[in-house]
Amino acid sequence: MAKVFAIANQKGGVGKTTTCINLAASLVATKRRVLLIDLDPQGNATMGSGVDKHALERSVYDLLIGECDLGEAMHFSEHGGYQLLPANRDLTAAEVVLLEMQMKESRLRNALAPIRENYDYILIDCPPSLSMLTLNALVAADGVIIPMQCEYFALEGLSDLVDNIKRIGAKINPELKIEGLLRTMYDPRLSLINDVSAQLKEHFGEQLYDTVIPRNIRLAEAPSFGMPALAYDKQSRGALAYLELANEMVRRQRRKARTAAAV
Ligand SMILES: Nc1ncnc2c1ncn2[C@@H]1O[C@H](COP(=O)(O)OP(=O)(O)OP(=O)(O)O)[C@@H](O)[C@H]1O
Ligand SMILES: [Mg+2]
Repeated sequence: MAKVFAIANQKGGVGKTTTCINLAASLVATKRRVLLIDLDPQGNATMGSGVDKHALERSVYDLLIGECDLGEAMHFSEHGGYQLLPANRDLTAAEVVLLEMQMKESRLRNALAPIRENYDYILIDCPPSLSMLTLNALVAADGVIIPMQCEYFALEGLSDLVDNIKRIGAKINPELKIEGLLRTMYDPRLSLINDVSAQLKEHFGEQLYDTVIPRNIRLAEAPSFGMPALAYDKQSRGALAYLELANEMVRRQRRKARTAAAV
């Protein structure tokens, strides 16, 4: 049964999409079956997966409003090796259309229910907002992965996101947890980075991934070729860091499964 993770942070440009694409490809490289869901009208994860967002007949929008079934919207990322539910600007309308629908926060969760067993991991790329779309992702997910840049203001927005996760947990999805906090675009030369890292460790403890993603030009270049860094330059520091993250994630899952079995 797939673990479903929402990659979320309402702050823009922190590396959500980069993490989604590269983590998906790295999990495939470790022989996991992966589905990536683009839930952002910007369609960046779609383009970065090598699928043209302007040429979609069906997208995750049609799926959410019940206009098509999963098979019709599904694509495959050739260079990433994962399945993709793509998005484009059509998804902007979902904010309004969903409001009038029943079970509006659970549309994605219900749509995924029949295929969860076909995958090991389902990753959802969220838009930079705490919108109805992000809410659908948080209701569908078992856990949230929060990418963030280690800068002073990063900690401020974080508390809004964490509050929201707790609120949703209490109300609709009690299973929802913070799966991990990921430091992206990491530059060890910045003097405040150790302070911020220490604060994160203090607040989030084990939830902070040991793996950090360095600032790496290959990670920024690869999406314009519709590729993860692993396909574009597999020796790059960026590609290697995301492979390490995939391994850390899989190790965590195993440890959790062992602990649960022992109880
Ligand atoms: N580790 C990295 N090193 C260098 N550039 C990066 C790195 N991670 C992301 N970038 C670049 O930073 C920009 C923002 O990254 P990305 O699109 O992944 O963020 P995002 O959180 O998904 O943004 P949005 O909130 O708009 O959806 C992109 O141009 C991306 O290529
Ligand atoms: Mg994005």
